[in-house]
Amino acid sequence: MQWASILLLAGLCSLSRAQYEEDSHWWFHFLRNQQSTYDDPYDPYPYEPYEPYPYGGEEGPAYAYGSPPPPEPRDCPQECDCPPNFPTAMYCDNRNLKYLPFVPSRMKYVYFQNNQISSIQEGVFDNATGLLWIALHGNQITSDKVGKKVFSKLRHLERLYLDHNNLTRIPSPLPRSLRELHLDHNQISRVPNNALEGLENLTALYLHHNEIQEVGSSMRGLRSLILLDLSYNHLRKVPDGLPSALEQLYLEHNNVFSVPDSYFRGSPKLLYVRLSHNSLTNNGLASNTFNSSSLLELDLSYNQLQKIPPVSTNLENLYLQGNRINAGGREFAAPPSCVQHLLWLALQEHEEPLVVGQRVPG
Ligand SMILES: *[C@@H]1O[C@H](CO)[C@@H](O)[C@H](O)[C@H]1NC(C)=O
Ligand SMILES: *[C@@H]1O[C@H](CO)[C@@H](O)[C@H](O)[C@H]1NC(C)=O
Ligand SMILES: *[C@@H]1O[C@H](CO)[C@@H](O)[C@H](O)[C@H]1NC(C)=O
Ligand SMILES: *[C@@H]1O[C@H](CO)[C@@H](O)[C@H](O)[C@H]1NC(C)=O
Repeated sequence: MQWASILLLAGLCSLSRAQYEEDSHWWFHFLRNQQSTYDDPYDPYPYEPYEPYPYGGEEGPAYAYGSPPPPEPRDCPQECDCPPNFPTAMYCDNRNLKYLPFVPSRMKYVYFQNNQISSIQEGVFDNATGLLWIALHGNQITSDKVGKKVFSKLRHLERLYLDHNNLTRIPSPLPRSLRELHLDHNQISRVPNNALEGLENLTALYLHHNEIQEVGSSMRGLRSLILLDLSYNHLRKVPDGLPSALEQLYLEHNNVFSVPDSYFRGSPKLLYVRLSHNSLTNNGLASNTFNSSSLLELDLSYNQLQKIPPVSTNLENLYLQGNRINAGGREFAAPPSCVQHLLWLALQEHEEPLVVGQRVPG
């Protein structure tokens, strides 16, 4: 099987078998050392604002053994640590808290992750209007116990971590200043069209590992969005309309069976699309669906495809293993044009990816 496809593809791309054999060692070596997006997820937000965590894990607070710890400022809740050398951060993580303490007004970074907090009571952030980050992941927060106006005064909030909780809805309204919203690993089942309205600066939205069946057109208006992760949900349809700045779209492990024609045209910067482990068939795809010139990586593995769909000539990585593509049979159809840049093409499980391009690395 492997040789049949190598020959077929090699013929199409005028890469001779001799050349393939001669180069294959070198190629595989080169490819193994290539950074795939799977190994090194592209960070849409490359600048990491100073991570305000002064303690080095097990090492404990940074004062000399024997000398008394520096006094904590009086406004610090007794359950938390407010290091004097970092006056805008408050640490209340990993200490079995069942409720949220009131946040003093000077705080910009607050950490409540990995506790047993089940509610966000009204007023808790009301004095801390300068908050930039709130970490609440790894708790048991349910949607019914999130105060209606808890986030409404936070005009500067940029990152909100609510992943790994018991939410069934997206909290609303959310501060329009948000840049990153982490809502993955909850039990959210629906995203109303207006749930994310006005989030003009949102660059990354994490909604994977939820129970979402439909997102309607809620994503379309997110004009700064670069990364959208909706993997591991119950989507049968792709979102109605993609944001125009989008670069990474993750939809793997859903039940999507079709993608409309020209679907990716509205996102001219799209680089990575993952649609593995869905229910795609060739009938559900138009001939131009994946012919999007910006795409570098397309993962269509573990679907029900019988033919390789037409792809753009700029594509570098194409994953097709776990489909019903049969290289020996008549159904096998290679990409219509020679894919000059393709570096990976995996058709079958446990198969070494085939190299069909002649792109000069480096
Ligand atoms: C909230 O801020 C006001 C005004 O700065 C202050 O008087 C009040 O004590 C603060 N509340 C708490 C609980 O810190
Ligand atoms: C949150 O979900 C976990 C796991 O599903 C469950 O054990 C826990 O009781 C839930 N907590 C609340 C407050 O609903
Ligand atoms: C979005 O970001 C810009 C530039 O950083 C800022 O000026 C603007 O106020 C932000 N929008 C909102 C709604 O916070
Ligand atoms: C893909 O798109 C290009 C440019 O829009 C076009 O020239 C080409 O014919 C298309 N290929 C297929 C297979 O439709």
